[in-house]
Amino acid sequence: MAEPNNQSPNGVRTVVVPAAGMGTRFLPATKTVPKELLPVVDTPGIELIAEEASRLGATRLAIITAPNKDGILQHFAEFPDLVETLSQRGKDEQVAKVRKAAELISPVAVVQDKPLGLGHAVGLAEEALDDDETAFAVMLPDDLVMPTGVMEKMAEVRAELGGSVLCAFDVPREEVFNYGVFDVEEIDTQASDLPAGLVKRVTGMVEKPEPEDAPSTFVAVGRYLLDRAIFDALDRIEPGKGGEIQLTDAIELLIREGHPVHIVVHEGIRHDLGNPGGYIPANVDFGLHHPKYGKSLYRSIKKIMDEYESENGL
Ligand code: UTP
Repeated sequence: MAEPNNQSPNGVRTVVVPAAGMGTRFLPATKTVPKELLPVVDTPGIELIAEEASRLGATRLAIITAPNKDGILQHFAEFPDLVETLSQRGKDEQVAKVRKAAELISPVAVVQDKPLGLGHAVGLAEEALDDDETAFAVMLPDDLVMPTGVMEKMAEVRAELGGSVLCAFDVPREEVFNYGVFDVEEIDTQASDLPAGLVKRVTGMVEKPEPEDAPSTFVAVGRYLLDRAIFDALDRIEPGKGGEIQLTDAIELLIREGHPVHIVVHEGIRHDLGNPGGYIPANVDFGLHHPKYGKSLYRSIKKIMDEYESENGL
């Protein structure tokens, strides 16, 4: 397994992955299988996150798990018997697949006894950080943000402007009611290397507003680069929406107290793996781009589409 070290090219050593939620939108599968282990083609969502974290240069994956979800950590084990059997049979490609997760990054489990909210889950990660880590990343395993690389840009923004940096997507106004929406002001990026127009200062956040009340069309997705000050803010907030400790409430508190918070607007696509309606398209997208399955999957999907269109007169 990779050992955590103190050098990280982007200054991010630890990526926190909150994975202690109940996954109710994926019942009945999530009775026994954590949603983070559901595969996109053949690779569990948690391994895709580990790849993204490793590419960022992080060496520690702090996975917040529920007491009954220890299978998530198990995915990063070494599986010596399986490796030996596959090796004896000359299945080198499969050996590499078994080994990959453990080679990517070093996982640490932090147990959240009860699902008291995303903010509560992130707060628990403090015990996994080294004393000298001034910032850490949070990646929600429900969210696949593509192409990868947005966290690297967020790290550049923190290096230049300090504070905390969040990832945003610009969505059509009629869709904002699904998201946390940023109130933003433009900043002058001329004197820096920061991408003009894509970095904005956050002045507030509104959770799931009606389209006409939304302060902008820039919405939060599951990538955060948070200053350590977030832990103190999380300690000081009360339970919010749904009786849960909300991460956005703690970020709001930091903004009110003058802590710099910026967004990087990501010009890419995002898959929401947290519900079947987003998970299925993610599999189709990854499947179509897969060297082994792409072509035949395309033909199968085309046939299904043709039949669906003629059934429904489309
Ligand atoms: P979600 O609300 O999308 O996930 O939380 P959920 O609660 O598992 O899903 P549903 O709504 O019941 O279907 C976003 C992320 O935060 C984690 C979840 O595991 C998910 O990755 N989370 C949420 C925690 O780790 N702890 C919590 O108390 C709440």
